[in-house]
Amino acid sequence: MKKKLIVYYSYTGNTKMIVDILKDNLDVDIVRLETIKPYSGSYDDVVEQGKKETDSRYMPEIKEIGIDLKDYDEILLGSPVWWYTFAPAVRTFLSKYDLSGKKIVPFITNGGWIGSTVDDIKSLANNSQVKNAINIKFNGSDMETSMSEINAWIDKL
Ligand SMILES: Cc1cc2nc3c(=O)[nH]c(=O)nc-3n(C[C@H](O)[C@H](O)[C@H](O)COP(=O)(O)O)c2cc1C
Repeated sequence: MKKKLIVYYSYTGNTKMIVDILKDNLDVDIVRLETIKPYSGSYDDVVEQGKKETDSRYMPEIKEIGIDLKDYDEILLGSPVWWYTFAPAVRTFLSKYDLSGKKIVPFITNGGWIGSTVDDIKSLANNSQVKNAINIKFNGSDMETSMSEINAWIDKL
């Protein structure tokens, strides 16, 4: 069986925290999406910039992912919620690469307002099967979703 691939974006580290849990439990390769131009300024500045970028569906340039997606059938796709949808770097990834026929499992970290994030992934990745999505709530950097819920999700993967 082909290995699973985790592709994720994390600005403040919460989504990365979930990746660290996943990599201890699954046989996976991991790609962290990074924008070529890093976000700068205060957290509030980035929140404002994020609003402009998500409103306009802006796609920041991202660094090369360094793997061949043909080697994987299943992608665990991690993103924070930015303004009720996925982060701009994830939009770039979903638009730039051919994910048709692949299974995509979204894991979405958020502060409680998930918006249409998973549906937005489904419409952009419309040639993939998007399933088993999980929303993981954080309060700042404290995970509020229980480990038992996360473990039950991992057991399904
Ligand atoms: C630009 C920006 C926009 C955000 N918009 C939302 C939102 O619409 N809903 C929500 O629940 N959380 C929102 N958040 C909070 C993040 O989704 C949450 O802190 C997430 O866990 C951060 O993941 P990360 O640490 O991997 O970047 C936003 C954060 C940023 C930086």
